[in-house]
Amino acid sequence: MNYRALFVGVGVTMLLFTGCGTENHPTPTSKPLPYESTLLGRGHQIFSSTCTPCHGQNGQGISGPALWGPNSAVAGFPGFSQLEQFIQQNMPASNPGSLTPAQAQAVASLLWHQNHR
Ligand code: HEC
Repeated sequence: MNYRALFVGVGVTMLLFTGCGTENHPTPTSKPLPYESTLLGRGHQIFSSTCTPCHGQNGQGISGPALWGPNSAVAGFPGFSQLEQFIQQNMPASNPGSLTPAQAQAVASLLWHQNHR
């Protein structure tokens, strides 16, 4: 039995676990954790002020496509970070890149929540 190899293995495993714990992009799940409700609340505010002219108050779509509900294709985004990145770079279509990363994350959380609950 090689105890040294065992010791190193355990060390690496612990490193991996602690590494994941400090992830600063919480992936919204179907049941939001308490800290995520703050994020969703901010997402709502940004959505109402910035996205509704084209996507509608209920995400149903106007000049832009539906973002949740029966006609939404947003659930087809491969993951949360892709959605966040898309919004950050492309939305609002009238002023792409105008959201801060934190704003893009908050509004992406709202969309992710609406499409995956
Ligand atoms: C000026 C109109 C306009 C505004 C404002 C706007 N969008 Fe859009 N949005 C569009 C159009 C048009 C498309 C479709 C073209 C495209 O995908 O680039 C789109 C596409 C999207 C998509 C991709 C939908 C899909 O099914 O592929 C997402 C997500 C999205 N918008 C999010 C947002 C968010 C979040 C905001 C607010 C921060 C926002 N949009 C503001 C016009 C707008």
